[in-house]
Amino acid sequence: MSQNIQTLQKEDRVFHPSPEFSARAHVKSMEEYEELYKRSIEDPEAWWSSQASKLVWQRPWDTVLDWSNAPFAQWFLGGKINASENCLDRHVREGHGDRVAIHWVGEPGDTRSLTYADLLRETSRFANALKARGIKAGDRVLIYMPMVPEAAIAMLACARIGAIHSVVFGGFSASSIKDRLEDSEATAIITADGGWRRGSVVPLKANVDEALAAGCSVDTVFVLNRCGNEVTMVEGRDLWWSDAIDGVSDDCPAEGFDSEHPLFILYTSGSTGKPKGVLHATGGFLTGAYSTFYYIFDHQPDDIFWCTADVGWVTGHSYIVYGPMSCGATQIMYEGAPNTPDWGRFWEIIEEYKVTVFYTAPTAIRAFIKAGDSFIDQHDLSSLRLLGSVGEPINPEAWMWYREKIGGGRCPIVDTWWQTETGTIMISPIPGATPTIPGTATRPFFGIDAAVLSADGNECGPNEGGMLVIRKPWPSMLRTIYKDPERFKKTYWGEYEGIYVAGDGSRVDPSGNFWIVGRLDDVLNVSGHRLGTAEIESALVSHSAVAEAAVVGRPDDLKGQAVVAFVTLKAGYQHGPELAKELKIHVGHEIGAIARPDDIRFSQLLPKTRSGKIMRRLLKEIVSKGEVHGDTSTLEDFTALAALQKED
Ligand code: PRX
Repeated sequence: MSQNIQTLQKEDRVFHPSPEFSARAHVKSMEEYEELYKRSIEDPEAWWSSQASKLVWQRPWDTVLDWSNAPFAQWFLGGKINASENCLDRHVREGHGDRVAIHWVGEPGDTRSLTYADLLRETSRFANALKARGIKAGDRVLIYMPMVPEAAIAMLACARIGAIHSVVFGGFSASSIKDRLEDSEATAIITADGGWRRGSVVPLKANVDEALAAGCSVDTVFVLNRCGNEVTMVEGRDLWWSDAIDGVSDDCPAEGFDSEHPLFILYTSGSTGKPKGVLHATGGFLTGAYSTFYYIFDHQPDDIFWCTADVGWVTGHSYIVYGPMSCGATQIMYEGAPNTPDWGRFWEIIEEYKVTVFYTAPTAIRAFIKAGDSFIDQHDLSSLRLLGSVGEPINPEAWMWYREKIGGGRCPIVDTWWQTETGTIMISPIPGATPTIPGTATRPFFGIDAAVLSADGNECGPNEGGMLVIRKPWPSMLRTIYKDPERFKKTYWGEYEGIYVAGDGSRVDPSGNFWIVGRLDDVLNVSGHRLGTAEIESALVSHSAVAEAAVVGRPDDLKGQAVVAFVTLKAGYQHGPELAKELKIHVGHEIGAIARPDDIRFSQLLPKTRSGKIMRRLLKEIVSKGEVHGDTSTLEDFTALAALQKED
């Protein structure tokens, strides 16, 4: 194991935060971080209570943590809380109703600014519209929206009445919606006619109609008018957002729910074909979102924050909606693509709104590098004071470029490691304190007992590769996989007793910095998005020509990993470029464009072990090195290797 994970990367550039940055920061020095971290790990319950108590609770909790039924944690038991109240009412009550919550920029250039008072009014109204359609606490509501303020309003309206939202990324296809509907048994969908993406309209409502064609549990579809494209409305089931809130009261009292009341389900890829419904609970999730946003983005009242993620991913949940809004931040929300109308779009927005804190993904940074500096040089980015990165390991070259070109050499970079399951950031620099080194997410957040363990369960020595784990429960941890507690136990807690296994390989350097190497399971990271190889394989096999498929990742300069599919055909089908193209389109239709294979390689047979398992290790070697160097002695059929051929 350690050989597989070990990296020989040597990086000795160290960057300290400037004295000016540290002087104003919430945590001002490494000594302060060390002291606070030590205390937080010695008594995590005290630390997390101190953070939870910064939120508004309608009833205080009696018990901080119940871990007696591990790995099923319960946090802040007895406490009653409303997430929407914490994100909206609280700020209005405290006199900040006029503060802008969202400066929104549509892809075609239209803009809107909504204050906290505006958001509270619109959320309350829409929450009443949900109630009017019979939606109540505990019901599941699927949200399939473009990046418009109503996406956040829809989430907060669900939270307000205790309905459990499940956001599906707008780039996913009808069949992905259908799978998620079947699993969540949602009774309502909130969508839009369309959303703008690279100058075209993504037909969101039409995708919903296709997903619903086979019939299911949904009896209400709310449709926001965003693009004005033609849609079909089904009588009795579908209603326009504007009609739903017309004449509806904007008074919707925020009822307190049990801390453990589910806040949302977010589906994510695992190593089987079926996406996992990661379930998060209200009080704990909000505590983590608030605390990490406050410390890691060093939130200051005059900040203009911008997280470029989509609300369809966990980053959008934690660092567009619940983290920034529970802290009362002002933020940017942008609807479209970074290269529309050209690669200067982000920099133009930063200049215009004087963004101070900017959070994006390494894949976007690499795309900006490729596009060339001319798009940046025309813009004044001097308002920026802090930069963040998330989604995949950031290569040192991209890190340095980000620091120099975007951060003007003066902004600390927080490389934040976390997952859909962890809910909020687990490992990251604290920007006023931590010395940063390109390529490492540095140190665990307060209260997070991260470590790297070897297969036998011992803690690895300095620079020795192993499995990244978290040894103590934390409030924003997933509570279970929706309707599948056995899979929850097996996936995350099966390896070591009471210890969370993240599925990533890592090492810790002698200074205590964590270097994340990447997934150890059959999960790919394509442009910072998680895709299970099994999901793509089952999409391929659902095509009439395909007998068997094996999908692996190939290192890619832009996307991090590219998707390569090895395919065997049923008798009577001819391989060739036409079929390869058809299969790529088919996968795009089954899952979404991000899952479309970059290469399709046809083969007579796939290399398998004697027990019939596909030998992905060999396939990975073929795609990354072009030939096989590893041990092939367990191959069922050696000829299979020679027969693999590329077909684009
Ligand atoms: O492999 C790690 C990688 O993304 C995975 C989590 O993906 P997802 O649940 O979609 O959440 C992405 C946004 C939080 C992790 O298991 N990952 C995420 N951030 C980093 C990272 N790998 C290295 N460095 C990071 N900063």
